[in-house]
Parts: sequence; structure tokens; C-alpha cells
Amino acid sequence: MTTTIEVGLGARRYPIRIGAGLLDDAQSWREAIRGSHVLIVSDDNVAPLYAQRLCEVLSVDGTQALRIETLLLPAGEANKNLDAAARVLDALAQFGATRDACVLALGGGVVGDIAGFAAACWMRGIDFVQFPTTLLAMVDSSVGGKTGVDHPAGKNLIGAFHQPRAVVADLETLATLPDRELRAGLAEVVKTACIGDADFFGWLEGHADTLLARDPDALTHAIARCCRYKAGVVERDEREAGERALLNFGHTFGHALEAEAGYGTLLHGEAVAIGMLLAARLSTQLGIATDADTERLHALLQRLGLPTAPPSGLDPDALLARMRLDKKNRAGGLRLILWRGIGRAEVVERVDERAVMHVLEGTRGE
Ligand code: NAD
Ligand code: GLY
Repeated sequence: MTTTIEVGLGARRYPIRIGAGLLDDAQSWREAIRGSHVLIVSDDNVAPLYAQRLCEVLSVDGTQALRIETLLLPAGEANKNLDAAARVLDALAQFGATRDACVLALGGGVVGDIAGFAAACWMRGIDFVQFPTTLLAMVDSSVGGKTGVDHPAGKNLIGAFHQPRAVVADLETLATLPDRELRAGLAEVVKTACIGDADFFGWLEGHADTLLARDPDALTHAIARCCRYKAGVVERDEREAGERALLNFGHTFGHALEAEAGYGTLLHGEAVAIGMLLAARLSTQLGIATDADTERLHALLQRLGLPTAPPSGLDPDALLARMRLDKKNRAGGLRLILWRGIGRAEVVERVDERAVMHVLEGTRGE
């Protein structure tokens, strides 16, 4: 069974399709490809598993003769940089890709962000379709049109808003996803519940084991719920003028941890898990939330096998310096997503840096 969720952005609206076997079911997504040049961008873990299949499915499709090329990028966050984006652009140039070309991003959030960014840049914007193959990409990064790469100064500092033509989440691809990556994806699932869906948080507490066991019904439910939630937010605030910032709960701390530990040391989802807990603690310290909700979050993250404390040896001053360069900040100082409790995240302006330092220093002994 396929679940379809629409991201309602007028003429740029697009479907998110979630189901088992969708990669082989070109009928369900072929219409997203408009021209005749198709560049499949994947990484060296995912391509050997799925790129050939995607290529074959497109080759046997009789609608229109397609020219299909595949580009492999090295896997991992350490490679999410301008060089990788340039490689995609070079491939498009070599391919003679015209303005109606389409980039198919086959992989996790790293591939999706790089390929989407290159698609946004080539000839000022060509089509792209997301084929997310990690849980994290299915519940978050493939939806909403944020694309980009990292800069040595910080994560995702270079990028563009560019919506895909479709998102195709084939649940069967999760079968090959390493356990650690699955758990990292669950962190972004928990994030959705933390921001605005307290009922979902309760559901996650009741289904932690089922999700870890990769029960298809539980995974489908979680993915669809996150996508539905995110689609709504993106429809109301595509360019992050307001509400969309809430989707970054845990991310200002998380991005700083990820960069400071060295990309690839902490997975993005792991950094977000720790970041959410730090944001919850800071909320308590600022007197806007209670400890009880922080404890529930801590317990759920632990049950999901996620880290709850930063790696030892990270310098709080260096972390704070990185947090100052976060995209959400304004001239007035730190602007963080905190919460008033489970399901009630909010933007807090001009957060006192001493309180942030207190929380960062408090984790040293863990
Ligand atoms: P990832 O893309 O690095 O994938 C994780 C690892 O799993 C990689 O080694 C990859 O090769 C491998 N892999 C992927 N699918 C596989 C499969 N089916 N079987 C076996 N191996 C597989 O990481 P991720 O967690 O998917 O994404 C993290 C990235 O997403 C970060 O860069 C983050 O900043 C970004 N992100 C973007 C947004 C957005 O809105 N654009 C939102 C959240 C996160
Ligand atoms: N992951 C944050 C966003 O898409 O806005």
C-alpha cells in the first residue's frame, strides 16, 4: 500500500509517496520527470545497492527515450561540500543537460542536500526528485526544499530553497540501512513529536521497540506522520520566516556538536538527539519548562539507543562560538528553539549566553 501526502505549494506542489517497492514502480513517479536528461546522483554505499535498478526501471519505461547518467559521490557528511556540488554541476555540463533535465537524488540526506543544491544552481534551477534511502531523509531532509552543503565555518551555511518535483520513499530500501543510521533517523522522528505533537510522543514511547525492530507498519506510521507535519509547516512558511524555524529544535546545539566533534564522528541525528536534550535543559534553566518533560525525552532517547551527552573533550567555548554562527540568529544575539514542554516548541530571542554556557558546561562530567 502506498501513502501519498501532498505538499501544497500551488504550482510547485508535489507528492511524497511512501510505500514498499516504489523504486520499481515507475508508474507512480515517472510523471515527475519532464525532459529527456536524467542524472542519478548517489553515493558509494547506496549506488551499488539501488542505482542499477533505478536506471533499469527508467530504461524500460516506454513513455519517452531518456538519456540516463549516474554520478557517484563519496558517502558521508565530511563530503557534503562545495567540491561535491561542483562535481554534480560538472557532470550536468558534460552531459549537456538542458533546462528540462532532472536530477534524481538517490540516498540519504547528504546526497539529497548536495544533489538538490546542484539542481538549484544549474541554469538557475532544474527539476529534481528525491529518492530518500535513510529513515532520516524519509522523515525530514527530502521534504521541504532545503538544499545545501557545509562550509568549514559551519553546517549547511551554503544553500538554496529549491523544492523537489516529487519525493519517493521506498520502505524496502531501509532493509539495508545500518542500525546506527536507523536510530539516527529516529532522532528526527522524536524531534517532530517534541515540537508540536505530544500525542505522537506518547505513541513513540509505546512503539520504541517496534520501531527499532523495523516493523513496517510502525515505520510507515512514523514516516507518514512526520511528513504530514512537515508538509503543513512548509506550506505555511516555506522560507522560514517564522514557524519553520521550530523544525530546528535541537539543531543549533546539534550542528555545533557535529562540526566541533569533526563531521562523521557524530551522525547528524545523534547530534540532534543530544542537542534536543540540551535545549530542553536550557528551557528548564530559563524557567519555561519543567524537568519532568526533559526526563521523558531523556528516557525515550535512551530507549531508542541514541546518545544523550556530547562526546568528552569538546570545548564549551568553541561550541558557543559555533552556535553564534547559526542561520537562525539575528543581530541581537542567540535565537534558539526551546520548548515549554513536550509538543510545545517556540523561538526564544536573545538567549542569555551565560545560561547556554551553564548547560554546555554541565555536560562535561557525563
Ligand atoms: P547520510 O546521507 O550520510 O546517510 C547515512 C549513511 O547511510 C551514509 O553512509 C549512506 O551512504 C548510507 N546509506 C544511505 N541509505 C542507505 C541504505 N538504504 N542502505 C545502506 N546504507 C545506506 O545521512 P542522513 O542521516 O540520511 O542525512 C543527514 C544529512 O541530512 C545531514 O547533512 C543533515 O544536515 C541533512 N538534513 C537536511 C535536512 C533538510 O531539510 N535539507 C533536514 C535534516 C537533515
Ligand atoms: N530540517 C529543517 C527544515 O527543513 O526546515
